[in-house]
Order: sequence, then C-alpha cells, then structure tokens
Amino acid sequence: MNKKIGILGMGSYVPEKVLTNADLEKMVDTSDEWITTRTGIKERHIAAPDEFTSDLAVAAARRAIADGNINKDDISLIIVGTATGDYLFPSTACLVQNKLGIKEAVGFDVSAACSGFIYGVEIARQFILTGKYKKALVIGAEKLSSITDYTDRNICVLLGDGAGACVLGEKHDNAYILDSYMRVDGSCGSLLKLPAGGSAMPASHKTVDDHLHYMKMEGRDVFKRAVQVMCDSSLTVLDNCGLTADDINWFIPHQANIRIIKAIAKRLKISMDRVYTNVDRFGNMSAASIPVALDEAVKNGIMKKGDRVLLVAFGAGFTWGSIILQL
Ligand code: ACO
Repeated sequence: MNKKIGILGMGSYVPEKVLTNADLEKMVDTSDEWITTRTGIKERHIAAPDEFTSDLAVAAARRAIADGNINKDDISLIIVGTATGDYLFPSTACLVQNKLGIKEAVGFDVSAACSGFIYGVEIARQFILTGKYKKALVIGAEKLSSITDYTDRNICVLLGDGAGACVLGEKHDNAYILDSYMRVDGSCGSLLKLPAGGSAMPASHKTVDDHLHYMKMEGRDVFKRAVQVMCDSSLTVLDNCGLTADDINWFIPHQANIRIIKAIAKRLKISMDRVYTNVDRFGNMSAASIPVALDEAVKNGIMKKGDRVLLVAFGAGFTWGSIILQL
C-alpha cells in the first residue's frame, strides 16, 4: 500500500441566516453571558425552511469540485456523513449524485453523527487504496435546526447548520493523509440521541406532542466523555504515525464547545495558538464542523502547504475518530 491519498479540492457552505445569542434570549430563558461562558458560541447559521441537508451538501460539494478543478464525472464514490439527511431514505448521497449530475458513482450515507466526516474520509481512503474507486466526494452536512427543540434551552443554543466537502484521490506529493483511528462505544448511546422516528419509536401524535423528534442530550456526561475520548483518539493516531503533539502544526477538534476544545488542548499540551476554532461563529454543526473549519483555515491562508494537521471528532453513538494529514 504505497499509494498516498489526499485532498484534491475542498469547499464549504453555511446558510445565510444568522441566529445570534441575542435572538435566542428572546426565544428561551437564556443570556448571551451564559451561552458565551459555557460554550464560547456567539452565533450560528440556520438553513431556510426550503433548504435541506442535500442542498447544503451540494453547495459545499460544488465548491470542492471547483477548488480541485475536478471533472465531476471522474467521481466514482460519494459519501455523506450526516445525522439529518433529507429522508430516512433515499440517502442524501443519492440526492447529491442526482443534483450534481454525476454519471457513474456508488453512494451512501454514514451514520456516525459528529464523526461522520472523519468516518467518511477514512472509508473513502480505504476504497481508493484498493484501486476500486479513484476519486471520492466526501461531505459532512447537517441541518441540525430540523431536529432542534427551540423551546429547550439546554440544546437550542448549541447547534447550527452547514456543510463541508472534499474530493479525495491519489496524491503524488507530500500532501496526503498519514493515518486515522476510529472507534464506537454503544454502551452510552442514550446520553445523546434522537428518540423517535426510527423503528424503535415510530412517529405518532404522542411522539410529536412529547417533542421526541428532537435531539436529547445529557450535556455534562457527554462533555466528560468527549474530552476523554478525543484526547485518547488524538494520542493513538499520533503514536501510530510515530509523532507527538509537538510535531503537529494545527489541531482541529470537533467544534462543539470551547471549553471542551480548551480541555483537550491542555491535556495534549497543544497551545491554543495552534488550535483552530470557529465555534463562536457557527456553533456545533456536527459532521460539518471539521470540514468547514479546515476549508476556512486553508482558504484564509491560516493553514499552509506542508502543515501537518490533526483532526479529531466525537459524536452520538458514541463514535469518535482522528486523522492526521499533511496539507
Ligand atoms: N441558558 C441558561 N441556563 C441554562 C442553559 C441556557 N441555554 N442551558 C442550561 N442551563 C442551566 C441548566 O438548566 C442548569 O440549571 P440548574 O443548575 O438550575 O439545573 C445550569 O444551567 C447548568 O447546567 P449544566 O448542564 O450543568 O451546564 P454545563 O456547564 O454542563 O453546560 C453544556 C451545558 C453547554 C450543554 C455542556 O454540558 C456541554 O457542552 N456538553 C457537551 C455538548 C457536546 O459537546 N455535544 C457534542 C455532541 S452534539 C452532537 O453529536 C450533535
């Protein structure tokens, strides 16, 4: 396996509408001060009622395809990491294929919540390494506002909508993915879940009345677990590559909460000037968080060619995963 797989093009998209902490103060019993000190979030973007996850995904994908100067018909694999697909089926990947008019591809969604993009990139990398597919479009896209209870102050202040995408393929320079590490642990799944709408609790008048089609979370427990596994995951992938945290130019952890990000950075002994954050402007966009951050940092010239970047995600399931790549 001497092939090197890396990013050929990247793009991201967030919807136009901005929901600020001041807006939320008018909707639930909260304050800018509480939200800022507990989460670091100031505002988040919210999709229009007629703008779906597949639309966000397609907007990001078009930018990634243009960025890499890719012929879209060379894309033979489409993976969308999402917890908020337009439908239970068809998959969002099918909708993306159709909207982009990609001729011959296989496509599917990855259900790994906030880790969906990391999972998608690694799945695509493995497929490309085998030679089965040559170019893959990997997207992390979420319309979390569609599963957010805007009467629940515990949740609604945290989440935003958006999408990030990349086209992966073989690289012949040093800009490639060094390694990855992924895991699940279903034993704590009830701490962060969408209770109704699946086969365990099909939709009924009661599930709607009881607000069970919205995300539920035990925030404090999730917080502790997030810090622990994102640290372990980062250390494992560093170790697998024969690297230490000092060898990393940039660290992009899942953008859920600035306190989680700072706690991980502190444990890994990575100073905050090497940690990229945008949680203040976008909130937690689940699977879209990491690709939006990476795209933004590269496009703004903050991360440069040759930089070594550590990505780490954690999400409902629980799922987690980390990737080290060279730009
Ligand atoms: N405004 C004002 N008060 C609030 C708000 C709010 N928006 N939300 C909760 N509170 C109150 C609570 O009711 C509680 O009040 P009480 O003490 O009277 O009961 C108090 O604030 C403290 O609540 P805690 O839950 O203990 O607050 P904490 O400091 O833990 O912060 C938070 C809560 C921000 C949710 C934090 O636990 C967190 O970030 N958890 C992790 C979230 C996360 O990372 N999720 C990742 C995955 S999400 C995904 O997969 C899509």
